[in-house]
Amino acid sequence: MDTAHVQAGQRVLITAAGGVGPFDVQFARHLGAHVIATASSARHPWLKDLGADETIDYTTTPFEEAAADVDGVVDLVGDGHDRTSTRALKTLSAGGLLVAVPGGVSPDLAAAADAAGVRPTGVLVEPDGPALTQIAELIDAGEVSVEVEKTFPLAEAATAHTQGEAGHTRGKLVLTTTG
Ligand SMILES: NC(=O)c1ccc[n+]([C@@H]2O[C@H](COP(=O)([O-])OP(=O)(O)OC[C@H]3O[C@@H](n4cnc5c(N)ncnc54)[C@H](OP(=O)(O)O)[C@@H]3O)[C@@H](O)[C@H]2O)c1
Repeated sequence: MDTAHVQAGQRVLITAAGGVGPFDVQFARHLGAHVIATASSARHPWLKDLGADETIDYTTTPFEEAAADVDGVVDLVGDGHDRTSTRALKTLSAGGLLVAVPGGVSPDLAAAADAAGVRPTGVLVEPDGPALTQIAELIDAGEVSVEVEKTFPLAEAATAHTQGEAGHTRGKLVLTTTG
């Protein structure tokens, strides 16, 4: 919303619809975009329910061969795994925007984007009350849902981190400070 300024009818690719990605799928669908999401196939029915028009199994299909003419990519994998940010550049139409979430934009990625005629940017989550209010309104209206994979007492925060770092979370891991 704030970075890519997604418009109705645009094509948006979201790589790694696991924890953050399902929100991106729902926000992009809310804005009227055509949503393409990568995830392993077991996640595909869930992502379709959330609003994905197309799903790509990244474990069997190079996503850059299955998605094209994209206006915006939200890449949640980064170049640290299989050069995902650099590969995502190939899916963009001229002038399209890559939002590289993990790692941001390295000099190599910036050069590759320049050569491809597309725009790269990073993004960093910051405290933002108005945005959280807007998201809460979307949740209250039933436009956005929040999947909680597991809840942990605060004393088990290390276990929650270990699970999150495994990189296969479906939705959010929640720490509770009471009960
Ligand atoms: N810049 C910021 O402010 C900011 C904020 C939040 C998060 N982040 C970063 O954004 C990234 C995503 O966070 P998250 O919480 O969504 O992560 P996550 O919960 O670990 O989700 C990872 C998802 O990625 C999928 N995946 C794993 N390897 C993949 C690959 N090679 N290609 C495509 N998909 C792959 C997994 O799918 P399967 O389970 O189906 O295999 C899983 O669903 C993390 O690196 C995190 O540090 C940055």
